[in-house]
Amino acid sequence: MRKTIIEPFKIKVTEPLALRTRKEREVILEAAHYNLFLIRSEDVTFDFLTDSGTTAMSANQWASMMVADESYAGSRSFHKFRDKVTSITGYGHVIPTHQGRASERLLFGVLLKPGMKVPSNNHFDTTRANIEALGAQAVDLVIPEGRIPENEHPFKGNIDLARLDSFCREFKDRIPVGMLTITNNTGGGQPVSLENIRGAAAIYRKHGIPFILDACRFAENAWFIKTRENGCGGIPVRELVRQVFDEADGCLMSAKKDGLVNIGGFIALKDPAWVQELRNQLILTEGFPTYGGLAARDLEALATGLDEVLDEDYLRYRIATSAYMARRLNGMGIPTVKPAGGHAVYIDAAKLLAHLPKEQFPGQALAAELYLQDGVRSCEIGSVMFGEAASMELVRLAFPRRVYTQSHFDYILEGLEELMSRTGEIRGFKIVEAPKFLRHFTAKFARL
Ligand code: F0G
Repeated sequence: MRKTIIEPFKIKVTEPLALRTRKEREVILEAAHYNLFLIRSEDVTFDFLTDSGTTAMSANQWASMMVADESYAGSRSFHKFRDKVTSITGYGHVIPTHQGRASERLLFGVLLKPGMKVPSNNHFDTTRANIEALGAQAVDLVIPEGRIPENEHPFKGNIDLARLDSFCREFKDRIPVGMLTITNNTGGGQPVSLENIRGAAAIYRKHGIPFILDACRFAENAWFIKTRENGCGGIPVRELVRQVFDEADGCLMSAKKDGLVNIGGFIALKDPAWVQELRNQLILTEGFPTYGGLAARDLEALATGLDEVLDEDYLRYRIATSAYMARRLNGMGIPTVKPAGGHAVYIDAAKLLAHLPKEQFPGQALAAELYLQDGVRSCEIGSVMFGEAASMELVRLAFPRRVYTQSHFDYILEGLEELMSRTGEIRGFKIVEAPKFLRHFTAKFARL
């Protein structure tokens, strides 16, 4: 086995990296009131704000966009896209949407009434918001290990089957749909095992509850199953993916992740029961059922992306990136949520900057420092984002797919080594201005 894992692609199109001096970044950050959402991307050297919609597309994806059929109805590109989704998932009914939250709004709009409940391992923010906007309740039932940052459980995204069973027994008349998020983004990009997916499916089936996957990162989840689950090592990823989808009744998808595209999503279902109503709603707000808020070229890129994401050389390299970053960070004494997730590494800022109390926003302080050091843009997930409700002070480095190379990561790690020698000097922040809701996007900060 070779130690160095190489990018399994050559580069045909390049984009310059924005290289600024530390002095320039100091001016930029101060002008943005120390909020990384308020700086221009052209002032960011390494953008780890999200892995969503930030993928570099392949030559084949760009080529397929050129042969797209932009007909309003019945487009050839739609049929190609639909057939691809069906061949991977086994689901015969496919509804394109412009992104994940559009799928959520449509499905929940058709299924949910006030007072209803939707269990999952962890609901992503937009999933929760779309459920709660309808007066229903999003309930998180991840295993206890999933809530402990240092716990090394290989499938920390698993749902607690005993709690799920008793929850379903108690509320079954008020649960029109049950879910699982693969991988579990809210819990740190942690995978769910095939055994756990089968267990959840059996419980939902027993109680007569349809089971829908939030499948944004289905390929990354399958790679973890292949490499961590007993008896799965010899099974091709494509087959594991199919075994996962076979257990559920359908999925919601943000293709901006494992669809390897910059925009796109879909709902795919085994059973036609909800399809007519979903298509009626789709026409009202997204578009005709053969494009659903996308251009045909987006459907083409997505059909090609769904094949490429199942390439095992790609997945090996993809998951190696976050594992490598976590291992090197831990090696220099930077604590992270363990084990590394699929799409991101989460630094425990409360531990790293132990001299800063929660009220001084250690996550924000670290995120600002990462930007000043080498132009890295990360995302605080802690007291700035969640206020008093925050249980941890994390900084997420989410890795765009196929965008940065090994030497970029090594360069960033070198900078972090430097930063580690002066963590004691890093000062905290106070908020000087903030809106009532979702304050992390626009809040203004001042250094203490
Ligand atoms: N579900 C999960 C698990 C997600 O991670 C996301 C998006 C969505 C649904 C919504 O999809 O953005 O296409 O509407 N996560 C991004 C992130 C935004 O940065 O983690 P969308």
